[in-house]
Amino acid sequence: MTLSVDNGINQIEGLLRQAKQSIDDGRVPVRIYNDPDIFALEKERVFGRAYIYLGHESEIPHPGDYVVRYIADDHLIVVRDEQGQIRVLFNCCRHRGMQVCRAEMGNASHFRCPYHGWTYRNTGELVGVPAGKEAYGDVLDKRAWGLRSVPRVESYAGMVFASLDAQAPSLDEYLGGMKWYLDLVTRRSEAGLEVIGAPHRWVMDANWKLPADNFVGDAYHTLMTHRSAVELDLAPRDPKFAMYGVHVHAGNGHGLGMISSPPGMELPPFWGYPQEVVESLQRSYPTPEHVAVARRINFLHGTVFPNFSVLNVMIAKDHRSAPTPMLTFRVWRPVGPDRTEVWSWFLVERDAPAWFKEQSYQTYVHTFGTSGVFEQDDTENWRGITRVAKGLMARDHELNYQMGMSFLKLDPTWPGPGEAYPLDYAEANQRAFIRRWCEYMLNEV
Ligand code: FES
Ligand SMILES: [Fe+2]
Repeated sequence: MTLSVDNGINQIEGLLRQAKQSIDDGRVPVRIYNDPDIFALEKERVFGRAYIYLGHESEIPHPGDYVVRYIADDHLIVVRDEQGQIRVLFNCCRHRGMQVCRAEMGNASHFRCPYHGWTYRNTGELVGVPAGKEAYGDVLDKRAWGLRSVPRVESYAGMVFASLDAQAPSLDEYLGGMKWYLDLVTRRSEAGLEVIGAPHRWVMDANWKLPADNFVGDAYHTLMTHRSAVELDLAPRDPKFAMYGVHVHAGNGHGLGMISSPPGMELPPFWGYPQEVVESLQRSYPTPEHVAVARRINFLHGTVFPNFSVLNVMIAKDHRSAPTPMLTFRVWRPVGPDRTEVWSWFLVERDAPAWFKEQSYQTYVHTFGTSGVFEQDDTENWRGITRVAKGLMARDHELNYQMGMSFLKLDPTWPGPGEAYPLDYAEANQRAFIRRWCEYMLNEV
């Protein structure tokens, strides 16, 4: 029997309504991690409406600098125009639709389409059409045929986000309580962050929600997934190290966890950042509470709904090296129900000493870079789940998301916004992420 499109959507919406109810009971259908109909709908209802991270302002510091970025299937040029304003243009010529910008990054005052030569200023304005007068006479109104801009583009602390939905709320409202936690990472120095190098990119055979779920709340997989790294002393040996932390649902599906040194393993405060950065952060953080929280952290992981993750961790690149803090931003770009293009940036405080930038970069490459020991462990799990999630048995198979449900109590002393639990051995964030996803998928947001 062939289902009509409407019936297909009705069926999926039925499943989503059920999933939204069952998440309160800590149950999630595994099918959401590999289903073409769900994927088609989430491209429209999640990626067509949420704010998606595109890049950091430091990637395009000068007028004319641009990078090409994506929201699911949409190709976008993120460019700083001659006035310094950041614009996000749809990379699709208004004549026959060719991509007007073919390089991944560069500097250009104009983009000339390689098909027939329509030429646009980096503001998107159409300024040149070959044989325009002779071929079009007065018909072509150039002002009406510029490159289209993405309806909503906003930055927070150097991070550029865009939404394809003209009705989207402000980015400020969208990020909500998560801004407080992003400040811990992005406002650690007066000079701000800079991206070093181009983002690393690779494709993995896994659904995009699995890494988002992992980063939003799952620190406790370390003892099992990263066992070989634990045995090399690259990660804490204490199997319950995630107990010594905090698990925060920051609202709107965003969440993070922060972990301190386990007892008996005294790691330096402030992730072990060098003295110059520590001095800078005392002046730069927006509140004294930020300083107090940062003092006891050496591990921070989080996800901004839907697919932007942050990892700021003090870690050793190999068993001969001292633990070093490093910061990576991630985007899990969906390219299929079972395929994700990973975008991974390395960032560091602009005013950090050169020796530290180099050491931190090397730590990133060896641990969470494309071939990093931790990265490969994680990817294997996400691929495995995606593989089994598409079978017949998977159609009515549920996963357990109940960790901490009945007994976890909020920490009333926590100084930041959101719902904070006094340990990072929990799945409150994962439940909140899936609940938010269901709300987007059901057009309730
Ligand atoms: S498609 Fe761009 S000029 Fe024709
Ligand atoms: Fe991991």
